[in-house]
Amino acid sequence: MKVDNYLSALKQPFKLGALELRNRSVMAPMTRMQTSDNQVDDKMVEYYRQRAAGGLGLIITEGVPVNDSAHGYDNVPSFYGESIESWRPLVEAVHAEGAKIMPQLWHVGSVRQAGKGPNPLSPIYGPSAKIFPDPNNTGLDLPTEMTAEQIEQVIGDFVNAAVAAKDLGFDGIELHGAHGYLLDQFMWQQTNVRLDEFGGDTIAERINFVSTLVKRVRAAVGPDFPIVLRISQWKMGNYQAKNAATPEELAEQLLPLAEAGVDIFHASTRRWWQAEFAGSVLNYAGWIQKITGKPTMTVGNIGVDHAYKDSRQQRKNTIIEQSYEQLDQRLALGEFDLFAIGRALLADANFVNKLFDNKESEIINFNLERHMPYKSYE
Ligand SMILES: Cc1cc2nc3c(=O)[nH]c(=O)nc-3n(C[C@H](O)[C@H](O)[C@H](O)COP(=O)(O)O)c2cc1C
Repeated sequence: MKVDNYLSALKQPFKLGALELRNRSVMAPMTRMQTSDNQVDDKMVEYYRQRAAGGLGLIITEGVPVNDSAHGYDNVPSFYGESIESWRPLVEAVHAEGAKIMPQLWHVGSVRQAGKGPNPLSPIYGPSAKIFPDPNNTGLDLPTEMTAEQIEQVIGDFVNAAVAAKDLGFDGIELHGAHGYLLDQFMWQQTNVRLDEFGGDTIAERINFVSTLVKRVRAAVGPDFPIVLRISQWKMGNYQAKNAATPEELAEQLLPLAEAGVDIFHASTRRWWQAEFAGSVLNYAGWIQKITGKPTMTVGNIGVDHAYKDSRQQRKNTIIEQSYEQLDQRLALGEFDLFAIGRALLADANFVNKLFDNKESEIINFNLERHMPYKSYE
């Protein structure tokens, strides 16, 4: 029976500067929409404490807005102003269980809709007065193009949030640069048609906002406070979208961001085992690590069994491809460094302990109706 050396690579500690994780598992950021007054409450502390006690190395919190306009959904905890102090007990509770924690700093940009709280009057803006999909088809509110002052303000709000995170004792921050929210809106050509230094026809021009932001955060938090950047090719409502169609374009996008001060890239994909570009088995995290030399985190359907939808032959293949052993082997080979788990942790706070103790049969499987009663995603 496989016990001690089972998933031994996934169980290895991880160290990067001052950041030390007891193993390679990470809780993926998941919006809950469960707070009142946009503050951390006791139930939220307990939710994260349980998952820390479940054996995770690192927790990345649900996306947390850095200012009023950054809010796109109801009952999300803020990470500015009066809400800041409410985070302290949560950080302490997670640390007491042996896990590390980072807030996911978030701005939804043009995804915001008129009248949303906590300040219904706060404006809706984005890189350009443009959204995807076409507002004519969806009836969504159009953002205004961000002014130079608004850009400066937002960068300052991210910087303040990062400094607050450090003061609260968080172990680093994650910048939400994925899924079609503000940072990604700047990076994607469909949503950034600006003519100033923050937009243009080239990837280099379109990443300028994110690289400026990373540099400013780095300058404020110092060299030792970890900055994780979450990025994705896909956008909400557009799973086929790509910021980088080739490895060369990916290098053009990410090398300046690594240079700006990103320590770890969180490569958000929906199925971790899939190759990112033709001609290589490397997944998105694998390519990013190869290109930037930085540690990367993979994610997507770990511990979520969708294989039942496939035919018998497909199922045989998917089970092998998706297996925990494959994940362990590919991490051992150095393709990526960390693995993040999302929905499986909604179903079972003890997922990691059970997995590492080879008690997979005891894991409570994720079930859409039971474990995701609200419609929020990303
Ligand atoms: C309910 C829910 C909320 C999510 N909220 C966020 C979020 O706030 N920020 C983010 O970057 N991703 C968010 N995601 C995406 C997850 O972090 C993760 O990438 C995705 O669920 C795939 O991982 P999984 O297959 O292990 O669930 C959310 C996913 C779910 C299911």
